[in-house]
Amino acid sequence: MLHTAICDLLGLRLPIFQGALGPHDTTDLAVAVSRAGGLGMISSIHGTDVYGDTKRQVARLVEAGGSFGINFPVKSPDGPARLRGALDSLAKNERARRGLRIVVTSAGSPTVFNKDIRAAHLHHFHVVATVEHAMKAVDAGCTGLIVEGNESGGHVLSAVGPTSMTLIPAVIERVDVPVIAAGGFVDGKGLIAALALGAVGISMGTRFYMTREANGFAPPKIQAALVKAGVGDTAVVPSVFGPNRHWRNSHVNEILARVAKGETLADLADLKKEGAAAHAAGNADRATVPIGMGVGRVDSVRSVAELLDDIVAGARQTLDALARLG
Ligand SMILES: Cc1cc2nc3c(=O)[nH]c(=O)nc-3n(C[C@H](O)[C@H](O)[C@H](O)COP(=O)(O)O)c2cc1C
Repeated sequence: MLHTAICDLLGLRLPIFQGALGPHDTTDLAVAVSRAGGLGMISSIHGTDVYGDTKRQVARLVEAGGSFGINFPVKSPDGPARLRGALDSLAKNERARRGLRIVVTSAGSPTVFNKDIRAAHLHHFHVVATVEHAMKAVDAGCTGLIVEGNESGGHVLSAVGPTSMTLIPAVIERVDVPVIAAGGFVDGKGLIAALALGAVGISMGTRFYMTREANGFAPPKIQAALVKAGVGDTAVVPSVFGPNRHWRNSHVNEILARVAKGETLADLADLKKEGAAAHAAGNADRATVPIGMGVGRVDSVRSVAELLDDIVAGARQTLDALARLG
């Protein structure tokens, strides 16, 4: 039941990835996802000892005993040190090799890192948001793709990029590698829909932000405010990595008003600084909150184990309902 090719490839009980949620330290969340049978993901963090931090994070995930991955955005200056830290952790460590199975790159060309990742016998999945980028990533040697529709939280192609429903099957029809669907997936129905489109699993960012194990970086006050959000309550705003989908609170409305007047990212530095501080302080209305449209379908904050149990139950109900169609 729900056992797909990705479960065999990466040693998972469930075909569910935790999306990277950088720049936060997602180690606690990744441990919970890994333990519950999904793929926990170490996210990019920026610090003074990226190499050491990566090794420490890998060690914690190895201790948890499941499968996990590590993400870095290609353009991040930390990428090379992070990759070195991860690969060094594997040296002569059989348990680490059984746990760390995959590197997920995003936001840039995967070419630079592919050789090192493949030489370490790791899978290399790249996050793409267009058919063209998907084909380029496969040509560059990626062994799989995370195909992300415009509903996604965080970095998006543009305010009007292709949605999951159109992009995911369009990519699957053109490539011959496993595809994980991302962007708007929050429940069991969504998982079955992704499998119906030809994906071998889903990756969720927004839904995992709304779990208890995310509280190290997702303040409960912000999660409580987001529970009331609707599917239309996000907006795409400029950020250092390009267009970013955020919750549309008063902070984002102010950014949009200033962008409409012609202000650039550099002009918005004061607001960006305020947004980061407000997020850390749990001030929901003034915080920068990258989040996807799927937040409108999240009605509670739960533990990762409860969430994954619910997703499995919802997927079973959906399959039963479909079987009754004859
Ligand atoms: C707060 C936040 C931070 C994110 N940071 C990263 C990141 O550092 N690297 C990355 O590849 N994707 C990042 N993403 C995208 C997620 O990994 C995931 O692909 C996306 O959230 C999937 O869409 P969903 O939000 O509809 O589930 C982020 C998303 C959010 C909401």
